[in-house]
Amino acid sequence: MPETGTSLAAPTPTPAPGFPRDRTCPYRPPEGYEAIAADGPLAPVTLYDGRRVWLVTGHAEARELLADKRLSADRRDPAFPVLAPRAERQSEVVLPLLGVDDPEHARQRRMLISQFGVKRVNAMRPRIQEIVDRLVDDMLAKGPGAELVSAFALPVPSTVICELLGVPYDDHEFFEAKSRALLSAKTADDAVAARDALREYLHGLVERKRAEPGDGLLDGLIAEQLADGHLDRDELVMMALLLLVAGHETTSNMISLGMFTLLQHPRELAALRADRGLLPGAVEELLRYLSIADGLMRVATEDIEIAGRTVRAGDGVAFSASLINRDEAAYARAEALDVTRSARHHVAFGYGVHQCLGQNLARAELEIALGTLFDRIPGLRLAVAPEKIPVKPGDTLQGVYELPVTW
Ligand code: HEM
Repeated sequence: MPETGTSLAAPTPTPAPGFPRDRTCPYRPPEGYEAIAADGPLAPVTLYDGRRVWLVTGHAEARELLADKRLSADRRDPAFPVLAPRAERQSEVVLPLLGVDDPEHARQRRMLISQFGVKRVNAMRPRIQEIVDRLVDDMLAKGPGAELVSAFALPVPSTVICELLGVPYDDHEFFEAKSRALLSAKTADDAVAARDALREYLHGLVERKRAEPGDGLLDGLIAEQLADGHLDRDELVMMALLLLVAGHETTSNMISLGMFTLLQHPRELAALRADRGLLPGAVEELLRYLSIADGLMRVATEDIEIAGRTVRAGDGVAFSASLINRDEAAYARAEALDVTRSARHHVAFGYGVHQCLGQNLARAELEIALGTLFDRIPGLRLAVAPEKIPVKPGDTLQGVYELPVTW
């Protein structure tokens, strides 16, 4: 008999700590997470509904597990863990890409991958620069002083994803509000209402596009995949929904929280200003340091032995990106923001087959958005004390709601 490790069912001297928790500092893991990490690269934690799942905190173990086919991302599995009440009805619809396994996942990803490659994204850079410049012009014309999330961090990725997909930016107030509601609803019914409003909107958009095609990514999917029967309408609409929501909420949080974090680290900001060649590496470091998607979820479909633990079939597995990206075995002085370090191999975009499809686009947007702010508003600073800025709760994408700045 091979030796097996501790399983979730094994009794522990104290109740497993709660996960997720709210950050107090917007760029540091919540209080209490360090103690979980000290319990080993895989430790039992308790979700809001009382269920015990494994929390992965080790960098090597996270990459091993995220690449392991025995962990499923399929939300339709009744054993799939629920991170917050808003996700209690997540199994009612199929979430493409993020919520399905191969081969279904690979088939969907193949339809999109060519649109998100480095070359394709580089060709978009001049247009992203124009969008960013126009927003900075507006801020400078109205200032000094702005609320950076609504004036800049949200409209940059929102405009970019609209143009890429072929969604009219005129509708941005509607879909931004619904996306936010979907990601932050307190109840499952509120989340479903937001999701259904977005679905209805996108169904209407697909109909309009069939009558009058444009040249966006969605138009291409309609012409090539829907018409040929490779994709049905519901699948197309849910894919559009995922791209629209993932395409703006994530990057928006990174731009505002990235700026906030640099303003709190003046030495790093000065180094970056002095040497613009550091910018791509600094973006990588900010992704590592901020780990805004701090709770990826999976369910085991078979038993897995790892790090002296036994993950049993049916066990939930959560990944804390903020702890994984601060594993000292992977990064020296992991607690420090260091724009000169090589932060490669972080898991801020996940790892394995589900690794972020939009990562090249996100990097380009972050480089252009942050670089342009440094160049054109060199005196940018917070307009209120940093502790006055409320942080988003731990069970959603991490970030700040508002960022009042002046110059
Ligand atoms: C800084 C910004 C972003 C961050 C931090 C981020 C983070 C992530 C993470 C962690 C995952 C993996 C989730 C998992 O394994 O469960 C993911 C997947 C994904 N992201 Fe992003 N993302 C960002 C920007 C974007 C953008 C701009 C898009 C554009 C459309 C996008 C589209 C997607 C899609 C479609 C997936 C699912 C991929 C799959 O399952 O194959 N993301 N993202």
